[in-house]
Amino acid sequence: MIETRCLPADPSALAEGGAILRAGGLVAFPTETVYGLGADATSGEAVAKIYAAKERPQFNPLIAHCPDLASAELYGRFGDDARKLAEAFWPGPLTLVVPARQNCAVSDLARAGLNSIALRVPAHPVAQALLRAAGVPVAAPSANRSGRVSPTHAGHVMGDLEGRIDLVLDGGATDVGVESTIIACLDGKVSLLRPGGLARDEIERVIGRKLDARADETINAPGLLASHYAPKARLRLDAATIEKDDAILDFGGRFADVQQASFDLSPTGNLKEAAANLFAFLRALDATGADVIAVAPIPHEGLGEAIRDRLSRAAAPRD
Ligand code: TXA
Ligand code: MG
Repeated sequence: MIETRCLPADPSALAEGGAILRAGGLVAFPTETVYGLGADATSGEAVAKIYAAKERPQFNPLIAHCPDLASAELYGRFGDDARKLAEAFWPGPLTLVVPARQNCAVSDLARAGLNSIALRVPAHPVAQALLRAAGVPVAAPSANRSGRVSPTHAGHVMGDLEGRIDLVLDGGATDVGVESTIIACLDGKVSLLRPGGLARDEIERVIGRKLDARADETINAPGLLASHYAPKARLRLDAATIEKDDAILDFGGRFADVQQASFDLSPTGNLKEAAANLFAFLRALDATGADVIAVAPIPHEGLGEAIRDRLSRAAAPRD
């Protein structure tokens, strides 16, 4: 056990966070998507601590976070499409998988030995300030214990990781609420590895064509285990009706009249609001002890793709 401090992200806490990262420690910090658990990506030893703290079963490749495109280009090679996407959407909820540069300083452990690298420039001011204070690329998966839903508040991070990490920078609730969209730009193809906070049509608009089908399984995002986002309760998706003991994850007020534990992702049917509320509401419904969470139908379009993806992972059978 180590003592974990949780501090408001003021300038002195940010400076300290940077120093802890440079010294090989672990710092959790808000991005606009979810809270990340950061370590110096160039140090295999520091990155190993992430896996230990999260109890991640495998060495999945991690996203290296950088303060801007120029620093991301030190580690990855950006072709025309990757550059267009970076220029249009960075800083923001987009991760790009590109070929790693020869002599890439990001450790093999952070990249799980792959020839590619996942890079992200987050927009959250706390993430930006921390990355600049650290002066190194920061490997950061979501700051939850393996198998739990991703944290969107500093309190969620403390609940999962207190005693295992050095510092949590509290920057309040995150506003996108689901993880970044992961796009691979490899071998002339642009493909979606994980739907997330940036909708597919916005990406297609910038590259001027439809995304390529994901041909090659080796560029799969291996971290995407089917039951990765797992509350304890069982989820019933696209529920048309409610059973007596169900807890309810509603959308657009569909089950507003039902007298049961219920959280509405967005009473007005706004997908952006729904994404921001998703993980916190799943945690809250799970805490009621209900065996089943009935989930109202969520539309497929826009951010609905990422929300539905996370819900179907949470609903997947577990071993
Ligand atoms: O919003 C986010 O993306 C958050 C914040 C903290 O930035 N991070 C996050 O990281 O969700 P994580 O580790 O939970 O998910 C990263 C995903 C994993 O599924 C991993 O397999 C994939 O990125 N990935 C990383 N490097 C890759 C690579 N070279 N090729 C394919 N997939 C890769
Ligand atoms: Mg995660």
